[in-house]
Amino acid sequence: MSGFSIDWLNLREDADRRARDQALRERALRWLAEESSSDQEPVVVDLGAGTGSTLRALSTQVPLSWRLVDNDKTLLTEAQRRHGRTQNVETCLADLADVETLPLDGVRLVTASALFDLVSANFIEALAKELKTRGRQNPVGLYTALNYDGTTHWTPAHPLDEVVLQAFNRDQRKDKGFGPALGPDAGSAIARVFSEAGFEVHSATSPWVLEGADQHMVSALITGIAGAVSDSPEIDSQALKDWVRFRHSNVQTGTCTVGHIDLLALPV
Ligand SMILES: C[S@@+](CC[C@H](N)C(=O)[O-])C[C@H]1O[C@@H](n2cnc3c(N)ncnc32)[C@H](O)[C@@H]1O
Repeated sequence: MSGFSIDWLNLREDADRRARDQALRERALRWLAEESSSDQEPVVVDLGAGTGSTLRALSTQVPLSWRLVDNDKTLLTEAQRRHGRTQNVETCLADLADVETLPLDGVRLVTASALFDLVSANFIEALAKELKTRGRQNPVGLYTALNYDGTTHWTPAHPLDEVVLQAFNRDQRKDKGFGPALGPDAGSAIARVFSEAGFEVHSATSPWVLEGADQHMVSALITGIAGAVSDSPEIDSQALKDWVRFRHSNVQTGTCTVGHIDLLALPV
């Protein structure tokens, strides 16, 4: 178990699909089609695949061979159940932290969604190096969507919003199994490291824009944020309870916008 439940991944998937930058997604697919030989399906390796939401988001006329990598067996079993009969899908139970042992043989595109804010700067550097090295034989690109950028905007506003956000962003930087997490710096770190490694990097914003129709997801988000910040010394526990109550009472009529960044790094 990774702490990411099927229920939570299901809840966020529609907001993720709406948020993804469509131009970048299409550019990634176009590049895959251009770089592929006619006799072999291009191999796409999705890191931190969960139940396969990146596969679903990149569903296309171009047949792809998917390798889904995650350290959560329950999520991979669910991905296999959903796609194993209709798509060319292989699941790999592995810890991503060891970049050199990732199952990247024959890969054309590495993908990751809602993952790289969990990883460390060292991980991104090791991944760029690995893809650069593999790219000497065949070009390898990276498409990464929904990297949290540290911004959250609520309506109606509450006096504790900013304090909660700052505490949440501090929690986002704690070690999630890869060393100190990049959290809100993931997008800028990926852009810098992959540019320095010689990739052409394209980026675009991909915010969640959540309204009444997303109330179940917003409720879960409020509970998750409150859990993450509950130990923060600068937040009074009664004030946090009031914030949570206020936020839950506005999930039907209020809004919540959470910033993300999508990136596409292509070898030049
Ligand atoms: C926020 S979820 C995103 C899942 C999926 N990409 C999506 O967009 O629905 C992060 C995923 O990364 C996986 N993960 C986190 N740390 C990992 C690690 N060290 N090794 C392998 N997978 C990991 C989790 O199990 C989870 O499936």
